[in-house]
Amino acid sequence: MSSDPASRAGAILEIDLGAIVANWRLLAQKAVPAACAAVVKANAYGLGAAPVARALQTAGCRLFFVATLDEGIGLRGALGPGPEIAVFNGPLPGTTAEFAPHGLVPVLNDPGQIESWKKQPGVPAILHVDTGMSRLGLTTREFATLATELPQSGIAWRAVISHLACADSPDHPLNEQQRTRFAAAAGHMSGAPAGLAASSGIFLGRPYHFDLVRPGAALYGVNPQPGRPNPLRQVVRLTGKILQIREIDRGESVGYGAAHVMKTAGRVATVAVGYADGWLRSLSHRGCGYIAGKRIPLLGRVSMDLVTFDVSAVDPALAHPGAMVELLGQHYGVDDAATDAGTIGYEILTALGARYHRIYRDPAATNDSA
Ligand SMILES: Cc1ncc(COP(=O)(O)O)c(C=O)c1O
Repeated sequence: MSSDPASRAGAILEIDLGAIVANWRLLAQKAVPAACAAVVKANAYGLGAAPVARALQTAGCRLFFVATLDEGIGLRGALGPGPEIAVFNGPLPGTTAEFAPHGLVPVLNDPGQIESWKKQPGVPAILHVDTGMSRLGLTTREFATLATELPQSGIAWRAVISHLACADSPDHPLNEQQRTRFAAAAGHMSGAPAGLAASSGIFLGRPYHFDLVRPGAALYGVNPQPGRPNPLRQVVRLTGKILQIREIDRGESVGYGAAHVMKTAGRVATVAVGYADGWLRSLSHRGCGYIAGKRIPLLGRVSMDLVTFDVSAVDPALAHPGAMVELLGQHYGVDDAATDAGTIGYEILTALGARYHRIYRDPAATNDSA
């Protein structure tokens, strides 16, 4: 008889679907009367597109955004025929015919995608206009050329969208420039619902909401207003298992490169999480964990499967092989880890590893592990 997956795993990732639903409700409420979609691309930012989207569907979300056709096909299988699923990257050459059979709405980003979509009149699509991101979407010049023709193109415009480059910096002048450019473009689209704001854009206020908002990161607990209190609930809790405890003398080194040298004798816990699990190597010397609410500094370099912590100050009855160290949770959230790693919460989430045993928590929603 084999052991249960939780005992075999080096770390356990708990995903609070109730918190995701609460975050979606808070964002939706903030955006009223605009509708609130949910961005679940990249496997719902690493947290599991199927369980996350099912929980949001039950909560009333009717429009989901993914990045790719394959993500869309997978999500349609998970959600069934009800909700709308839009695909940010639009139809790549040779894939146009695959959207409608799965009920997927493409975001059309360039004149070529628009031209090929016109061949199936009446099939819905979303138009993306670039207002300052210089990434995807019709350029200002392309839109000016096509503006009069687009409403009569035969395409059923489900929405017109654009994306803010600096929404997490409320004072950045590009926000207002993009808003003005977008309002002008949306005005040419014969009443198609307009959507500009993602997570941070929702917090720029009503003029940025238009008819439709589409948050991603904030659903998963990332602070949409860096430097200000986070109104959203933490969604993930990551705990790693202590494999060994070692007494180390003053002057001895810990880990690769002998990069940490003990200033005093102490106890070091080796935990079964490494950069192969998305515990980024840039957390070397900087990150931390928690045992029973007590901070334990990360020592030395993060290696592929292991990371070491100084547990000298923790009661040995709490820090022992088999005990769990909290790596992400109420004490040290996704944004804290991102700051220590020199990155953003988005990257911490999407890097979360495949080796973690995942537990989905929500009394009202699915309780399946994936
Ligand atoms: C076009 C577009 N809209 C919305 C989002 C969601 O953004 P956020 O996760 O900041 O809410 C993204 C994410 O990258 C995006 O690319």
